[in-house]
Amino acid sequence: MIEQFKKDVVNGLGQTPKSIPSKYFYDALGDALFIKIMNMPEYYPTKAELEIFREKNDEMIQALSMEKDVFFELIELGAGNGTKTKHLLNNLLQKGYDFSYLPIDISSTALDDLEYKLEHEFPGLDVRKMHGDYFNVLETLKTNNHPKVILFLGSNIGNLTDENSAKFIYQIGANLKPNDKLILGVDLIKSEDLVRPAYDDPHGITKDFNLNLLTRINKELGGRFDVSKFDHVPEYYMNEGIARSYLVSSTDQEIRIEGLDRSFSFEKGERIQTEISRKYNDEIMKNILRETDFRIVSKLTDQKGYFADFILNRS
Ligand SMILES: C[S@@+](CC[C@H](N)C(=O)[O-])C[C@H]1O[C@@H](n2cnc3c(N)ncnc32)[C@H](O)[C@@H]1O
Repeated sequence: MIEQFKKDVVNGLGQTPKSIPSKYFYDALGDALFIKIMNMPEYYPTKAELEIFREKNDEMIQALSMEKDVFFELIELGAGNGTKTKHLLNNLLQKGYDFSYLPIDISSTALDDLEYKLEHEFPGLDVRKMHGDYFNVLETLKTNNHPKVILFLGSNIGNLTDENSAKFIYQIGANLKPNDKLILGVDLIKSEDLVRPAYDDPHGITKDFNLNLLTRINKELGGRFDVSKFDHVPEYYMNEGIARSYLVSSTDQEIRIEGLDRSFSFEKGERIQTEISRKYNDEIMKNILRETDFRIVSKLTDQKGYFADFILNRS
């Protein structure tokens, strides 16, 4: 994985405008900071999706229409700490469904913590964690014929451009069989006063989360970033519906990264894009799904209409 990290940093910082893929946020410190973000009052997506998983769990299971006596695999892409999923796991177990849970995550710390917690909370549940990049594990879905339910929650899909989302969802479908399901959690387009604080909180946690990317490059690739010379700058305009996070150089500077045997120059005010978080409406969703094999079975939302979980059927 370190070789891929090197490659992505060389490519990302070597191009104009500069960018680094958001998947590199999640080392042990990044995981801990993200848990803090999810607990902030300003970070509405987790609370809204949690409400759906708590309040509309029966509806969700009904929409999945899995047969009780047929074993299936519940596979989660980017499982994180599984807070929302636990409600689904609990309800499926109580209703007597026969399934295994396969969380996939790029962070081994997140996966180990999740496995430990699930062992204690659901001792009878078969958990098979898979460490890796979910873009690379799609092929492994094909290795058996069991029916599958894929979970892709937390609006993780929003880290991709619409074009790449469509490709990714198409690929998921290509590795599934008819009547397999995908639960896709997406953040809905809403006003700037609601979205901006989620990415620019007064506690400085999202700032630390963003800057940790540079600290990670320093630790793992021998970078010489002085994080105090970069600012956390988020951006969101409702008409566009995309939140973007940047790290902005506060001065002209040249940064050496020993592990890459390269230096990168930054002008004062130059930005590194570190994340996009796309927000959705029905039209955008339909466009993304158009060329895929998935059809919408159900759309579950929280009471305020901040977030939606789409239940999709692979035709
Ligand atoms: C924003 S968190 C969301 C966690 C969880 N899905 C939720 O909704 O609460 C993103 C999670 O996806 C993982 N992740 C991000 N990019 C990934 C990738 N390309 N492959 C596998 N896991 C990834 C991160 O490690 C992190 O645990």
